Amino acid sequence: MEFQHSVLDLIKTRISSRTFKELAIEERTLEKLKSYIAELNGETKIKARFVLVNGDDAVLVQGKKLGTYGFIKGAGSFLVGVLDKAEPDALEFGYLFEKLILFATDLGLDSCWLGGTFKKSDFEKSLNLKDNEYIPIVSPVGYATEKRRILETAMRSFVGAANRKPWSELFFDGSIAKPLTEDKAAPFSSALEMVRLGPSASNKQPWRVLMDEKGFHFYICRTKGYGVPSYDVQLNDIGIAKCHFELCAKELELPGLWQKLENPVSVASWEYVCSWMS
Ligand SMILES: Cc1cc2nc3c(=O)[nH]c(=O)nc-3n(C[C@H](O)[C@H](O)[C@H](O)COP(=O)(O)O)c2cc1C
Repeated sequence: MEFQHSVLDLIKTRISSRTFKELAIEERTLEKLKSYIAELNGETKIKARFVLVNGDDAVLVQGKKLGTYGFIKGAGSFLVGVLDKAEPDALEFGYLFEKLILFATDLGLDSCWLGGTFKKSDFEKSLNLKDNEYIPIVSPVGYATEKRRILETAMRSFVGAANRKPWSELFFDGSIAKPLTEDKAAPFSSALEMVRLGPSASNKQPWRVLMDEKGFHFYICRTKGYGVPSYDVQLNDIGIAKCHFELCAKELELPGLWQKLENPVSVASWEYVCSWMS
């Protein structure tokens, strides 16, 4: 299913929302969201599935809503990502979940990736998961209020949510001694800028890209001691970067394909993930 708006505009306008109007999602919008989820579930090659928990299904017992430890208020619907316990591909999972977030944004819906501040047991109960499944990521989805709550403002300020690292810390030209300029990256500079603007867990922005004559090589710069053993959330972040880069390249009709190189340039303290070969 095609997006209605430019992907570049969607990436620029998406922002994490944590306070929602108590308003049901409009029926036509809901149908489109459900169709897109069905499409993603049909396409995925990993052991993952995506579910929309909506209306009464988002209420547990006696009107108690699915728990987010107070971080999310007012949301009556959630996008839920379910993964097989034996499936290690957090890269692809992050890529697919971000496509879903951007599709929701295209429909005029607000969202917020949640990897930590949601009550897993509530969501697991509401979905009747199989023994081999778990839920690494959910997102509220709906219409955000115009005004943020104090807790939300404090949370955004704590992680510096509006800030992004400069190009000179993220993108490199041939070696990490040489920062990549937008001019040198052309015509891929917008695709890299969309990587830079992406959401990431605690806004750590672990993506790093090394450009050479063959293409763009994506790496993770891990934050020591960050994350949980059960799910590789920083690899998930690179999946988001991959999604932004690819959708932007497609929109701008730039050539290329993803490959995993057997002998990538090795960079101390970074982990190689994949390359866009043009
Ligand atoms: C994988 C992932 C996990 C996240 N987990 C949480 C979370 O548990 N709670 C939360 O409030 N925000 C969470 N966020 C939202 C980030 O804090 C947010 O994307 C980042 O601060 C940048 O802000 P922005 O999304 O408004 O651009 C998560 C984001 C990602 C990508």
